[in-house]
Amino acid sequence: MAKLKLCILISGRGSNLQSLIDACADDAFPAEIALVVSNIDGVQGLERAKKANIPTTILSHKDFKSREAFDATLSETISRFDVDLLCLAGFMRILSDEFVNHWFDRLINIHPSLLPAYKGLHVHERVIEAGESHSGCTVHYVRPDMDSGPIIKQAKVTVEAGDNADTLAARVLEQEHIIYPEAVRLIAEGRIRIENECVVIDGNT
Ligand code: GRF
Repeated sequence: MAKLKLCILISGRGSNLQSLIDACADDAFPAEIALVVSNIDGVQGLERAKKANIPTTILSHKDFKSREAFDATLSETISRFDVDLLCLAGFMRILSDEFVNHWFDRLINIHPSLLPAYKGLHVHERVIEAGESHSGCTVHYVRPDMDSGPIIKQAKVTVEAGDNADTLAARVLEQEHIIYPEAVRLIAEGRIRIENECVVIDGNT
């Protein structure tokens, strides 16, 4: 069966990109990465892509007058490659409604909290500050409202006594690297349906 073609969007370190590169290195994995796009030059994620011989494109938002203009060029650039699914992996840009709607149900994100709790930035600091016993991470379809959309996979992590934002982030990240490839696999295998804005996974009871 043809593999699902991915475009991964990054802005930095790219450890989630790496987890997808590693998953795709297995011939049996039903997806492959056709393109990596970064809005920032020189980031570690670009090196990871090059090392894996994946085409990369750098598109700096600073070269555009508006969010809409940047997003339109981003869409055009991605459309030149034959991709089925866009994966945001630490892409530090708010996307315009036009972009999100253009790629509706073909655009997913990973967020380092148990959504819908703790949307936005500085999640781990806020989780610790609030004295939560648990946190985690979420892979979800992207909708115009930030960090919302049908949830595909989540993993829960215990907040340990003595955790700080860095130690908690590291433990959550380990889980991110597990659930992102798992979520992509579910989509690639055609096992996901969205009903009333909820994900239904075929084969799960
Ligand atoms: C991850 O924590 C991800 O959940 C968030 O941004 C971070 C990106 O890390 N959206 P990396 O660039 O994948 O290492």
